[in-house]
Parts: sequence; C-alpha cells; structure tokens
Amino acid sequence: MRIAKRLLLTAALAAAVFSAAARAQEGRGDVVYVPTPQVAVDEMLKMAKVAANDFVIDLGSGDGRIVITAAKKFGARGLGVDLDTVLLKRARDAAKREGVADRAQFIEQNLFETDLSRATVITTYLLPDMNEKLRPRILALKPGTRLVAHDYDMGEWQPDEEKTLNVPEKTVGDPGKSYVFFWVVPAVIAGLWVSLLYVVGRGVIYEFDFDQSFQRVSGDLRVDGKNARLPIFNVRGDRVSFEIDAPQGTGLVKHRFQGQVKQDTIEGTVTVGTGQKPIKWTARLKKRGELRMSALDAAESASR
Ligand SMILES: C[S@@+](CC[C@H](N)C(=O)[O-])C[C@H]1O[C@@H](n2cnc3c(N)ncnc32)[C@H](O)[C@@H]1O
Repeated sequence: MRIAKRLLLTAALAAAVFSAAARAQEGRGDVVYVPTPQVAVDEMLKMAKVAANDFVIDLGSGDGRIVITAAKKFGARGLGVDLDTVLLKRARDAAKREGVADRAQFIEQNLFETDLSRATVITTYLLPDMNEKLRPRILALKPGTRLVAHDYDMGEWQPDEEKTLNVPEKTVGDPGKSYVFFWVVPAVIAGLWVSLLYVVGRGVIYEFDFDQSFQRVSGDLRVDGKNARLPIFNVRGDRVSFEIDAPQGTGLVKHRFQGQVKQDTIEGTVTVGTGQKPIKWTARLKKRGELRMSALDAAESASR
C-alpha cells in the first residue's frame, strides 16, 4: 500500500520536476536544478545526526545549501559536486559569505564519477532512476555510512526512517510537501555463520544461515543439529540485534543476541533465558553469501 502510493507519487513528482526544468532552465546533467526547501535541508541533516566529525557529500549540489548548512549549523565538513558552473560559483560565493569556505567545497564533477569513500553522510535530491543507479555504489560503502534523500526514495531499498514535512512555499513535486528518507548502509552478513556457546554446562553449536535483502535479514538456524527459524530483523550499520526461541533440551529457550559485525566475525553478547547475565558471543563466517538487491519475498515476510 505504502509502496504503491509512493510509486504513483514518484511518477507525478518526476513529471513536475521536469516541467519546472523547462521554466527554470538551471542545472546541468541528468536532472534540472530545483533547490531543497531550507526546512527540509535542516530536517535531512538532523535525521542523519550530522556532527562536527562528519563529511557530507551532496550529489548534485545546486546552490550549495545542503553542504553549507552542514558546515554552518552542524560544524561538519563537506563536498558538493555539480556540472553547472554558474551554480557552482553561486555555492562557492555563498560558502565564503557564510564563513565556511574552508569546510564546504564545491567541484565540477559528474556525480556518477564522484569518489564516495570519504563520505560519512551522502545527500541527494535526484530523480528515482538516478537514485537506483547510485544504489549499488552506496550499498558497497562502509557500513554505517548514512544516506538522506529529498522527495525520491531508493526503490526497493526501504528507508530506515522517513518523514513528511509541510512546506507551504514548495510548488514543485508534491506541492506543499517534502518527503525525507533516511538509510544507514548495512553490513553484509548474508551467508553461513557458526558459534560455539557454553550453555547448560556444555558446548552447543549454533549455525546461522542469514539471507539478506538490503538491511533486512531472515534465515534459518540450527542448534546442535536441530532446525529453528530466525525472525526477520534489521542490520543497522555494523550492528545486529535479534531474539530467537532456540531448541534446548525438550523445549525452546529465548536467546537475545547483539553484536558488531567485523570482517569475518560478529562479536557481542547473548542472553540465554530470562533473568540471566549476558555471555560473550562470537560468530565466525563459514561461507559468505550475497546481498539481495530485491525486497524480501512478501509471502516469506508474512510467514515469519
Ligand atoms: C534537484 S537539484 C538539487 C540541488 C541540491 N542538492 C538541493 O537539494 O538543493 C539537482 C542538481 O543536480 C545537478 N546534476 C544533475 N545531473 C548531474 C550529474 N550527472 N552530475 C552532477 N550534478 C548533476 C543539477 O545541475 C542540479 O543542480
């Protein structure tokens, strides 16, 4: 329902931006220049929790307002890339005027060729097909990199958070409304992981077979050779946290896992049963799987 509604909206917004293009004739490349309303810029940066240690890259930076606001109000550093040299000059002049030229830089570059590895936060106000083209590159960035987009989402990659703002002065897209979408690049845990835990006075082998679609994880579990199902849970950056009812003796016992994904290990704790102290948990990668770039099967989601 939500997706269908948004898809319809997306088509309408794209059309509206293009008609604005014909009027404004600013911007160059794959989408014309339409500025994000300042109230939406502030919300985007707040949602991404931008701080002084962040490096923000705005892909298609227009008059530079996102990077300049990130520097001025949030103390961050950043880079804007655009192909329109008039807009780039406007952005550089504004950065000087606002006293942040040392922290807010603007270069002439095709956003599809921009090195994103320095970014801790990426911002976009681009058309849906451009977002989808960028998606694999963004998903390959360091887990924990944040992405925040105005008006257009990332297709099947569901946002971690979204907000609708009332913006009475907005005339393009969906007039009077701005949509802000936020994602955190997830670590890839797809594959088979194995843990040895000392519970009930002996070593028990846990095998996790994770199936991952963007940040959503489902899959199967074997405990001492007995099958169990994993619930659907989200990977948030490099953090995992999930609860299972795992076979133990003749019954099921609640296990609460939480951990940090490193290269080939997940390190954290597990609490087995209620009222127990957490114990150390390490999972080791046995066979790496692939991140699925399509939504989890609806039937599969419903059955869990
Ligand atoms: C909709 S505007 C957004 C401006 C700004 N990010 C904001 O939110 O206020 C998109 C910008 O992307 C730029 N652009 C379009 N295609 C581009 C490309 N391939 N590489 C770099 N910039 C591009 C346009 O010149 C325009 O300034």
